[in-house]
Amino acid sequence: MVEKEMILVTGGAGYIGAVLVKKLVEAGEKVRVLDKLYFGDEALIDIKPKIELIKADVREFKPEYLDGVKAVIHLGSLSNDPTAEFDPRANHEINFEGTMRVAEACVKRKVKRMTFASSCAIYGFHLDGIADENFPTNPQSEYAQSKLDAEKGLLSLVGPDFCPVILRQATVFGFSPRMRWDLVINTMTKDAFSKGKIFIYGDGQYWRPLVHVGDVAEAHVKVIRASGDQVKGKIFNLVHKNFLIKDLAYSVKDALKDEQKVEVEILPGVVENRSYRVAGDKIKKAIGWEPGFTEGEGAKEIIKVLKSGKYTDFDNPIYYNIKWMKMLVEKGQAF
Ligand SMILES: NC(=O)c1ccc[n+]([C@@H]2O[C@H](COP(=O)([O-])OP(=O)(O)OC[C@H]3O[C@@H](n4cnc5c(N)ncnc54)[C@H](O)[C@@H]3O)[C@@H](O)[C@H]2O)c1
Repeated sequence: MVEKEMILVTGGAGYIGAVLVKKLVEAGEKVRVLDKLYFGDEALIDIKPKIELIKADVREFKPEYLDGVKAVIHLGSLSNDPTAEFDPRANHEINFEGTMRVAEACVKRKVKRMTFASSCAIYGFHLDGIADENFPTNPQSEYAQSKLDAEKGLLSLVGPDFCPVILRQATVFGFSPRMRWDLVINTMTKDAFSKGKIFIYGDGQYWRPLVHVGDVAEAHVKVIRASGDQVKGKIFNLVHKNFLIKDLAYSVKDALKDEQKVEVEILPGVVENRSYRVAGDKIKKAIGWEPGFTEGEGAKEIIKVLKSGKYTDFDNPIYYNIKWMKMLVEKGQAF
């Protein structure tokens, strides 16, 4: 019998994946990445000789991809509201059906542990309270709905040989070699660097929970290593802190005060249909995961990279998921 020693990371060439896969390799894990490579594999260039890379689609996931695999970290999906709205059918097929296909292969091949990158976006909109994992969900988008559908699908498969764990990630920030400038702190930091300004659209009076990319990676690793009774079939929020967007802008400005002069500018904008605060205590109690990075530290690490002259081609659509996916569709290369 083949020894099960690998960790399979779907979406491992993405923003979170690139940080997570590097972390796993540095920890001595054997890693197989399965990714459609919509954004290429550049982000994995330094560690490519140390990993197995399969260019494939989760919609056509084959049980053979699990040969020798002890656990799956499932990140591969369309990963924001605009891309999901752009092609709701592809979103449903990838984010829900693709997830189920991976999970059913795990059940078949007795790969017990699977983490799922869900999103706090499923809490959608609520005026009062701080959402713990039992809080009513209120998805406001195709994207959030597909994540919720996938959660329910995964939890319906919990059994003696299958231990899925749902990680509801807050909006992520921080540097990754597959950089995204379409995530709120990253956008603010990029604009602070390139324009000396942080822009707030509308009144900025809506809540967002935030979490650092390295902390998200750490959470997946910790969950993979936890004992079954600590995590099996459980849902965990991953959050550093909840912010009103306006306050976040001033916090990022403040963090960068020694780096450069930054102004906050308020511009007219659409009314946000998402506003939610979440609680993150459950995962701390269960497995001791705690966020290690603040929003300011995330912004500073990004500025450091930008000052080195890297990732400064801000007009390149590859940094903005919706622009990039639209371009791929025009070229007939997606979805
Ligand atoms: N970044 C965030 O703020 C955030 C917050 C909550 C949840 N998430 C979730 O975390 C996961 C990773 O997000 P990210 O920010 O790294 O996104 P990303 O877009 O940078 O990466 C997603 C990766 O998945 C791959 N992928 C997409 N469709 C695929 C398919 N059909 N088959 C195989 N691979 C496919 C892409 O090529 C890409 O490499 C996603 O599931 C996303 O929904 C992200």
